[in-house]
Amino acid sequence: MERDYSDVSKRVLALSAGETDTVALMATMACELFHSDDRFDWVGFYRVVEPGLLKIGPYQGGHGCLVIPFDKGVCGAAARTGTTQIVPDVEAFPGHIACSGSTRSEIVLPVFAGEALIGVLDIDSDQADAFDEADRQALETLLQQVFSMAHLPEEIIA
Ligand code: SME
Repeated sequence: MERDYSDVSKRVLALSAGETDTVALMATMACELFHSDDRFDWVGFYRVVEPGLLKIGPYQGGHGCLVIPFDKGVCGAAARTGTTQIVPDVEAFPGHIACSGSTRSEIVLPVFAGEALIGVLDIDSDQADAFDEADRQALETLLQQVFSMAHLPEEIIA
């Protein structure tokens, strides 16, 4: 199925033009993505706050768990490996962390500022097998465009 990210990408890039603060960029991207596609029931970021540890960042949807170590969940897998995780059936993913009982599938992408991993972008869907290669490519491209100029957060520099 053709996924059209052109409109939401244009909006995100226009809204975030010139911005370098990672939280502001995350909040803008989470808001616009959440409202752009009826597959997306939760959209949010988890931030690298110290080596091996993620903490919740800006998100839209029901409450998300606050802390995820790199050795836990789909988010931990994306952070640990530095690669996008497409999960067609969350029940089949060993160690999936269920923030909502209605989530059926998920995509989680690493977020880089230059070479530094600064977090992950997590999108959950109540639809089974909602994400594919087209989502991965479009979201990875948009993340690179938005965060390539971002300043490293204090916790990453420290
Ligand atoms: N499902 C994620 C946890 C984050 S909640 O879905 C917002 C995981 O398994 O890492």
